[in-house]
Amino acid sequence: MTDIRSVSTTALRVLGIETSCDETAAAVVVDGRKLLAQTIASQIETHAQFGGVVPEIASRRHVQTVTRVVQQTLFKAGLTWGELDAIAVTQGPGLLGALLVGVSAAKGFALATGLPLMGVHHIAGHVAASFVGSSLQPPFLSLVVSGGHTELLTVNEHFVFHLLGSTKDDAAGEAYDKVARLLGLSYPGGPKVDALAAEGDPTAYHFPRSLLGDGSLDFSYSGLKSAVANEVIRQRRAGRSVNVADVAASFQAAVVEVLVEKATSALQQTGVNTLVLAGGVAANRGLRQALHRRSLQQGFHLVVPPVELCTDNGAMIAAAGYWLYQSGRFSDLELNATSSLALQDWQAASGV
Ligand code: KG4
Ligand code: ZN
Repeated sequence: MTDIRSVSTTALRVLGIETSCDETAAAVVVDGRKLLAQTIASQIETHAQFGGVVPEIASRRHVQTVTRVVQQTLFKAGLTWGELDAIAVTQGPGLLGALLVGVSAAKGFALATGLPLMGVHHIAGHVAASFVGSSLQPPFLSLVVSGGHTELLTVNEHFVFHLLGSTKDDAAGEAYDKVARLLGLSYPGGPKVDALAAEGDPTAYHFPRSLLGDGSLDFSYSGLKSAVANEVIRQRRAGRSVNVADVAASFQAAVVEVLVEKATSALQQTGVNTLVLAGGVAANRGLRQALHRRSLQQGFHLVVPPVELCTDNGAMIAAAGYWLYQSGRFSDLELNATSSLALQDWQAASGV
């Protein structure tokens, strides 16, 4: 088979595949910035009836969907396999069975086409979403907030990450989903709490701002989640109806305050002047507004990807693949899915 790598010398077209949780997604991105086409097959409706993601079902749905999603994406992009330059796939972290489907598909495509393969860390993907449609240049600081992650990290000009702080327990999105369940809202609860919060009084309850003012850049959300649960239970036991909008607004105020303060503090500590917001919770209107206000007050540059690129998608994986390609960080066909892949271990494995 001919080496397809020689076909393109200028524009680098990367196919990205993402199957780490409940979205089967693929996209083609040119030079890490121009989105040619993408497809996202969401499983939300299937999992909603169980109140959360059922790993077994997620894997099965990915198996049924992944080939069609990839083919549709190439069709929409108007490209043949021979016009691609590389394949990038989420290697971890995530649900093992779900990840395995994407990794196996990507390996199969790479073997059949001869295209180079790159295993992408899911967080690196979320961060890379900010390059799509933008002229952003590293170095910058990123606040990654999703259902599985709450992290503050720096990204240098070689797309190398340095972790500054992370959650000690629950991720921000996980706290959103748990509070939503407590309030009787269906999965995924984040966007529903966000919408309700806009109607409530954020000062109605004072929920804890964990680890705020301790000088660290770590986060903790389990205390906040318990405080909300205790308040709701107390109200119900007292026979009072819970004003869910006020609880949602007060909960969101606590989450947002900590995120904004820690991100500002990280900018000051590192001397970096650009903040990139990434991950599913980056879709949160309260957080976006609060960070925007803070960026105007403090004079830093804030980059927030469009909402559809904040939640899981294939474009973010393709965009990350561009940077890996540029620095020669390829994977071989031994590439394996790793459910609890640490960012540092992923970087170390590629010699960074
Ligand atoms: O990045 P993502 O799609 O998947 C993971 O990598 O985890 O993030 C999903 C998370 C869920 O917890 C979801 O509730 C949360 O992002 N989320 C939101 C909003 N949209 C999605 N949380 C708060 N406000 C939103 N608007
Ligand atoms: Zn994600």
